[in-house]
Amino acid sequence: MKISVIGSGYVGLVTGACFADLGNEVICVDNDLEKIKKLKSNKIPFYEPGLENLVKVNVNEGRLKFTEDTGEGVRNSDIIFIAVGTPPKEDGSADLTAIENVGKEIGKNLNGYKLIVEKSTVPVRTGEWLRSVIEKYNVNNAEFDVASNPEFLREGTAIHDFMNPDRIVLGVENEKSAQILVKLYEPLNAPILITDINSAEIIKHASNAFLSMKISFINAVANICELAGADIKKVAKGIGLDKRIGEAFLNAGIGYGGFCFPKDLDAFIAISERLGYDFKLLKEVRNINDHQKLLPVKKLKNIFGTLNGKIIGILGLSFKPNTDDMRLAPSIDIINALVNEGAIVKAYDPVEIENAKKIFKNIDITYCESPYEVARESDAIVIVTEWNEFKYLDLIKIKKLMKENVIIDGRNIFDRKKLEKLGFLYKGIGR
Ligand code: UDX
Repeated sequence: MKISVIGSGYVGLVTGACFADLGNEVICVDNDLEKIKKLKSNKIPFYEPGLENLVKVNVNEGRLKFTEDTGEGVRNSDIIFIAVGTPPKEDGSADLTAIENVGKEIGKNLNGYKLIVEKSTVPVRTGEWLRSVIEKYNVNNAEFDVASNPEFLREGTAIHDFMNPDRIVLGVENEKSAQILVKLYEPLNAPILITDINSAEIIKHASNAFLSMKISFINAVANICELAGADIKKVAKGIGLDKRIGEAFLNAGIGYGGFCFPKDLDAFIAISERLGYDFKLLKEVRNINDHQKLLPVKKLKNIFGTLNGKIIGILGLSFKPNTDDMRLAPSIDIINALVNEGAIVKAYDPVEIENAKKIFKNIDITYCESPYEVARESDAIVIVTEWNEFKYLDLIKIKKLMKENVIIDGRNIFDRKKLEKLGFLYKGIGR
């Protein structure tokens, strides 16, 4: 099939490369000329395991192309996926300007029947509105349909998630659109759910909101465990073994970050409000997360009294392992709070340093080449991201290098007993 994907960011590029790999002819579009130049020379503008190779292979096979010209993409494809950004506005609602601009371009360039599919996460009823935008600019009076096909991929495992989805949700207006999309997704052999467009849009927001709620719930229980002297890891296991609950997304820690959960939660709260429902439950999910992110700082203050002049080592800056994404990462809140308390911050992340330097351009942080360099002379170390390499640290060496032996394990990666035996003052989350 001939496909264009408008917006070559995280979702767009993975979608485009994967559809090409399934044998389709794909044009990836982006209005950022620099990004397109990079992509044309086989460079990926962000870190995602396996993506560079997938792009290279499909470009070489002639199935994947890049352009900055939206019109070119639209005219040369039958299915158009919209994967542009929907960043949050000040009130938390989604900014749909980029979708509107793409809608205009699509309308102007329609040269025959096309199926236009929303891939970006959008508030419910965006499909109806998108149809009206395209209609307004549809100078050739061409026939078209709109559909919603939300994406559930996670950063760091994006290709695997795309190729092995739990379900494919297709929100459509009619049988014709359903048939086209079912055929496109057939090779994935995954369960397909066909709905109306409004329902598909809500499925995406509700899924992310539910997962955020699961994390905030377990974090709230972790706080109870800490007060009561129980172990959240065992509690989570005990809860998760109930098939109705499930073990996934019950890892207590210092909260969720990234560009999806916080943004989508805010957008879902905002759209609910606009529709006349005050989604208080989700507001509390957000409150718990905000509180959780700053727990390491609270724990350090309890231990040291004051953090003024203390050297605190941060291990992990990205919002989760296997990504170079720092958007809304707990590390940002933690480091800002530490610096406000007068602490001196040293940090290490396996891939994140360049983004961090931009984010903390006004803050004096010592960026280190290894976790051991972070440990040298530190009063405490905070595990912020559970990168695999932190799980296998030489803790005896770490202890020798540190000034004081405090470890705040924000992701519960270590065995408390083992660390205490080695002589660390160990504080996990909820245990
Ligand atoms: C998420 C959704 O999983 C995905 O379906 C959607 O398309 C985009 O948003 P992503 O943001 O890439 O994906 O990351 P995910 O792996 O879901 O983790 C989100 C955050 O939750 C991370 O900060 C992670 O550390 C945190 N988390 C996750 C927990 O704190 N505990 C858990 O048990 C699981």
